[in-house]
Amino acid sequence: MLNFRYYNPTRIIFGKGVVDKIGKEVARYGKKALFVYGQGSIKRIGLYDLVVERLKEAGVEFVEHPGVKPNPVLSHVRKGVELAKREKVDVVVAVGGGSVIDEAKAIAAGAVAECDVWDFFEFKEQVKAALPIITVLTISGTGSEMNAGLVITNEEKKAKFGFRAEPLFPRVSFLDPTLTFTVPKDQTAYGSVDAFTHVSEVYCNRAKTGVMISEGIMETIMKTIVRYAPVAVEEPTNYEARAELMWCSSLALSGITWCGVGDLTLPAHMIEHALSALYDIAHGAGLAIVTPAWMRYMFKIQKFVEQLTTFSRNVFGADSVEEGIERFEQWMKSMGCPIRLADAGIPASDIDAIAENAFELSKAWGMSDFYTVDVIKEILSLCV
Ligand code: NZQ
Ligand code: ZN
Repeated sequence: MLNFRYYNPTRIIFGKGVVDKIGKEVARYGKKALFVYGQGSIKRIGLYDLVVERLKEAGVEFVEHPGVKPNPVLSHVRKGVELAKREKVDVVVAVGGGSVIDEAKAIAAGAVAECDVWDFFEFKEQVKAALPIITVLTISGTGSEMNAGLVITNEEKKAKFGFRAEPLFPRVSFLDPTLTFTVPKDQTAYGSVDAFTHVSEVYCNRAKTGVMISEGIMETIMKTIVRYAPVAVEEPTNYEARAELMWCSSLALSGITWCGVGDLTLPAHMIEHALSALYDIAHGAGLAIVTPAWMRYMFKIQKFVEQLTTFSRNVFGADSVEEGIERFEQWMKSMGCPIRLADAGIPASDIDAIAENAFELSKAWGMSDFYTVDVIKEILSLCV
């Protein structure tokens, strides 16, 4: 087992009806909140009214920052930072999916900073402090509710960048699986693929093999998602399926999976961010296209062969790596995910531009020694 550090301070409150307690929890962190949410789903499911009532009952004042879009954008983040500063809020309450939580994190960091918030994404400045963040999760997938990461798109630069910083761990996250009953089939599939790849990327890239505890945790999370994602797609109100997916998603990027096997590396994510930056597609849809291609490329150059072999056998019951990747792809396709660029309406002639875009993140994430423009192009050519 390799040396590692593990730190995860997020308090999880999980189960049916738990959001009832949100007022009391927010009140522990301040008297005035910034209430961040998306484009209307929380109003349609009655969650907006519940949160408003509970905040009022607990004597918490709040100002609203609605309209966060999927693949959240910098201009909207900056508006949130201005509002948080002007209103002198003490705490940020994020109610929604990864996009809402990520934007809330960026605002929480920007609200106490002198610099422009984008400086953090270009690693020109470091987040040393942030307003406390409390989340209510409404869609499983990103794990943002239990990690210190965030991803924002700079729409002028067409750059989707992300980073992690300890002050951005949510203090408390409310996880009620029933809130995800209304998530549409496609978003259910994309979120499941996202959570799955947070584990499969670590599993297949890991520097150290043979660490039973971490490999066991990872294989169990992947197998659970493989089993329950199609159930949730077909039966949206199946509580056990939604609950298993929700907890798997939170654990998948919480830090628990890579203890002792090496650092977190997310190369397919790095390439996917170029797809969602350029074409505004759902992150999980982009991953369904890129991840099998990344695996095929690595197998072709005979890297991570042991990792890919146990992935294929232990997660998909396959006798060979080729068959394992094929089954992985079919699992995603059966849930309605795109698995080739064309399925998402992206022309193969764009590969050069996508690779150039991804290479900027490859440099920012310190991966450019291996992930050159040419290597990224080769991986993308397997997505055609
Ligand atoms: O805008 P609203 O109305 O909230 O609708 C959303 C949105 O249209 C809808 N939705 C959410 N909960 C719902 C619901 N619809 C019905 N019922 C509900 N209960 O679903 C759509 C997608 O929401 P979004 O928040 O965009 O999805 P997701 O959670 O997949 O977040 C994606 C973003 O997170 C980033 C992605 O890159 C992307 O920008 N990621 C964040 C990570 C992190 N912070 O650790 C890691 C990931 O790898 C990922 O990069
Ligand atoms: Zn992801």
